[in-house]
Amino acid sequence: MSLHFIEFELNGRTVEGTCEARRTLLDYLRSDAGCTGPHAGCEHGVCGACTVIVDGKAVRSCLMLAVQANGKAVETVEGLTDNEQNLHPIQKMFREEFALQCGFCTPGFLMTLVALDRTEPRPNAAEMRAALSGHLCRCTGYQGILRVVDRLAEETR
Ligand code: FES
Ligand code: FES
Repeated sequence: MSLHFIEFELNGRTVEGTCEARRTLLDYLRSDAGCTGPHAGCEHGVCGACTVIVDGKAVRSCLMLAVQANGKAVETVEGLTDNEQNLHPIQKMFREEFALQCGFCTPGFLMTLVALDRTEPRPNAAEMRAALSGHLCRCTGYQGILRVVDRLAEETR
């Protein structure tokens, strides 16, 4: 079994280690880097629960190899805040709008919205809805999540 050395930035700190070429970024983050926020749902690119931000773009960590993260900046939901009293504004909106129940899908929704929120020009509600169409939630019925989208779109104007 051949191992590859990788080094990347994870939520602002440098992570380095070795892994097999076939190891997904999702598995590496959860098992080696201690970031269990990205969730393993379908593990084949359908549900969006594993979404992280890599070099500014939302990506499915189940479809990316850990070796592909070498030299890149990776952000997971853990990087949004280190303090429950100081949530990221989009996390606060999720709480205020009852946009989560079990929370399994939530890190993925959050990371996609955070990545979009940083783009210029900022996306409108239709563009955010289109991006979120790649995420599945089995609890909320999506209405609370869409209220967050509407609030973000309102702030964008
Ligand atoms: S676990 Fe990656 S998209 Fe479902
Ligand atoms: S809150 Fe449970 S799957 Fe979305």
